[in-house]
Amino acid sequence: MKHLLSCEGLDRDTATAVLDTAGALKQALLGREVRKLPTLRGRTVITMFYENSTRTRVSFEIAGKWMSADVVNVSSSGSSVSKGESLRDTALTLAAAGADCVIVRHPASGAAHRLANWLSGTHTSVVNAGDGMHEHPTQALLDAATLRERLGGLNGRRVAIVGDVLHSRVARSNVHLLTTLGAEVVLVAPPTLLPTGVNSWPVTVSHELDAELSAVDAVMLLRVQAERMHGGFFPSAREYSIAYGLSEARMRLLPEHAVVLHPGPMLRGMEIASAVADSPRAAITDQVRNGVHVRMAVLYHLLAGEEEVA
Ligand code: CP
Repeated sequence: MKHLLSCEGLDRDTATAVLDTAGALKQALLGREVRKLPTLRGRTVITMFYENSTRTRVSFEIAGKWMSADVVNVSSSGSSVSKGESLRDTALTLAAAGADCVIVRHPASGAAHRLANWLSGTHTSVVNAGDGMHEHPTQALLDAATLRERLGGLNGRRVAIVGDVLHSRVARSNVHLLTTLGAEVVLVAPPTLLPTGVNSWPVTVSHELDAELSAVDAVMLLRVQAERMHGGFFPSAREYSIAYGLSEARMRLLPEHAVVLHPGPMLRGMEIASAVADSPRAAITDQVRNGVHVRMAVLYHLLAGEEEVA
């Protein structure tokens, strides 16, 4: 694997290998006082975030450091991007400075693919840490890792992805990855928050959350992305919460074993009730924890070649 740009086209064997490596790394680090592995010593990883992030940026930084890579963080406001330098020139500069891997988050869909094209003559790998409304592949991989842990596997499992599908790169990556791994996906959203081409996706679509909950193994709530709704928010926050928020009453409709996921950041009280977010049923902190191991695994597969996980 040279780059990780999307879950669309990521084959089952490669995805499974990354998830297996993440599991092995988690086990290897469990209970250790010293968390560092020497695997990526001498490698340089640069994170380049043009949009805000807590979980993704921090967990990539921790992942690189736990693998002994040198990690450098670049943000658009603190770099020459703020003086008007283009994404292409910034990327070529970072590659020339010695980046073995550039991890990029950008508001434009397709930015990570463009970056990989511009860097094709270099040895530098690119990881998409979220590009506009397109994809967020490491989020889907950590979601799959969490579901595998909680449910024992994904084959034949039914996952409801609920809410603002239209603006969600998390939803797109999860649809591709979960179906590749053998799960069924039902998208549950108001018609105004579904993309026009959704009928060609390998999913079923529903507008009625209450009708779906008793038949799912997991429910993945999406963040409502007000910052991408330039024409205003419809339905209103109150209408959304009533129809699509996961309340305690709705949680009781789920089967006993079903898991609740949210990629974060959560809008408590609107997308998810606090009592649900903080319940044992919710795997939200597991998702964050697994995010570190999954991102370690991605860096390992991109940068460590065939070496053993050490
Ligand atoms: N889930 C996610 O991408 O969170 P951040 O925006 O905090 O990275």
